[in-house]
Amino acid sequence: MTWLLLIIYILTIITAVIATALVLFWESSLIFTRAPFIPSPAVIAPEIIDALELDENSVLYDLGCGEGHVLLAGKSKQPKAKFVGIERSWVPYLAAKYKAREDGRNLEFIRSNFFKCDLSPANRVFVYLFPGLMNDLLPKLQKELKPGTRLVSCDFEFKDKQPVKIIDLNRPKNSLGRRLLIYQF
Ligand SMILES: C[S@@+](CC[C@H](N)C(=O)[O-])C[C@H]1O[C@@H](n2cnc3c(N)ncnc32)[C@H](O)[C@@H]1O
Repeated sequence: MTWLLLIIYILTIITAVIATALVLFWESSLIFTRAPFIPSPAVIAPEIIDALELDENSVLYDLGCGEGHVLLAGKSKQPKAKFVGIERSWVPYLAAKYKAREDGRNLEFIRSNFFKCDLSPANRVFVYLFPGLMNDLLPKLQKELKPGTRLVSCDFEFKDKQPVKIIDLNRPKNSLGRRLLIYQF
């Protein structure tokens, strides 16, 4: 009986240590990024994909792809296009890899900082990033993206670039994902 209690006690401590480590791991992914992992609402994924105007030759980059739901929605609409997600935080990155485990063709997740990645293969880009990060990213986008690349931003705009179109998603006030801004590079 004493042994049983001891084993239960040890297992409880191990579980508590693992849970604490996971929470710290998750929190660190929020602390060290200027755009924490807050997924765009799943209900607007079809509108995002429509706004991107994907075709068979599209190469869509989601910069800060989270758990990859936008790319997965794009892939189900246009399976022949190519999809690349770049995500710096481990937790959403691993979630994306897991969600895509059965259909990895044309779909790649890269765990990296998008400032360090070559973005030139993209001809479609999706971002859901805070304005400060968007503005820091603009020079790199202007340098690397091919002329004609279409970028869709959820909610936030660049300070120094005008959108060609703004789509109001008619969502309730104070909800996330209320508009899409379309940019042409
Ligand atoms: C607001 S979430 C959006 C997630 C996803 N795009 C979506 O629509 O659901 C922003 C994501 O960008 C990631 N991120 C922020 N800065 C990054 C960077 N420099 N490189 C790669 N990922 C970054 C964060 O970890 C976070 O998961």
